[in-house]
Amino acid sequence: MILRLEDVTLSYGLLKAVDGVSLSVAQGARHALIGPNGAGKSSLFSVVAGTLAVTSGRIEFDGADVTGLSEPARAARGLVRTYQHSSLFLRCGVLDNVRLAVERVHGHPLRPFRRRRRDAAITEQAYAHLAAVGLASRAAEPAGALSHGERRQLEVAVVLACEPSLVLFDEPTAGMSVAETDRFAALVEELPASLSVVIVEHDLDIAFRLARDVTVLAAGRVIASGPPEAIRADEQVQRAYLGTESTDDLFTEPR
Ligand SMILES: Nc1ncnc2c1ncn2[C@@H]1O[C@H](COP(=O)(O)OP(=O)(O)OP(=O)(O)O)[C@@H](O)[C@H]1O
Ligand SMILES: [Mg+2]
Repeated sequence: MILRLEDVTLSYGLLKAVDGVSLSVAQGARHALIGPNGAGKSSLFSVVAGTLAVTSGRIEFDGADVTGLSEPARAARGLVRTYQHSSLFLRCGVLDNVRLAVERVHGHPLRPFRRRRRDAAITEQAYAHLAAVGLASRAAEPAGALSHGERRQLEVAVVLACEPSLVLFDEPTAGMSVAETDRFAALVEELPASLSVVIVEHDLDIAFRLARDVTVLAAGRVIASGPPEAIRADEQVQRAYLGTESTDDLFTEPR
């Protein structure tokens, strides 16, 4: 298991946004986390990534207890999240946003005379990550010039540049066009098998296309967990998505 949560709780004052969640994510997982608005999905990502400290419970990543570690310390170990709202440097260049992430991973040069070669290597890697998300031709533009969907693709490039072993994607396709969403899904499908992925996704077509395991959260609690087919058929899951008699309806709605 790359990630193991034991009875994790996060309270905002009186509200338990995450309420006693225990969950395991296997090495190489393609794991979807779904649930209605306000279910606690982003809050759960925040405690797993270390953005917020747990109120109680334990988080184990790659065999080590990381419950007390900061977000940068967890990222340095390979546990990286994306945010539901953009965290790009909009005035910096598209390529520079990726370069910053590559630089962070590879640290600073010990010997200055190696600097030029090192810079070229960093640029080359950053370009490769940009190309993977289809943004190589936009490299020189400021990130602020990108469309909403393109910014989300750039976030994916930034996350991959961190060389993670586990990525937490929080609604990566929100605001993407159909073509951009499809490109994102294809990108996830092409990621190396060794990389573990957990994805919060409102578009259930995408969630069920990408995931081999699905966890359903409602009111901070896990109400179902299992392979996509079992989750589709689960009555409690159908009730959690109010106004929907059958989850089948959720898969046929036009976007
Ligand atoms: N910083 C905060 N302070 C207080 N309450 C918060 C805070 N962030 C979230 N909440 C509340 O915690 C609950 C869980 O929110 P969260 O954003 O984790 O849900 P979510 O499943 O990600 O929802 P969505 O699908 O809308 O993104 C909600 O009731 C929300 O209003
Ligand atoms: Mg959220």
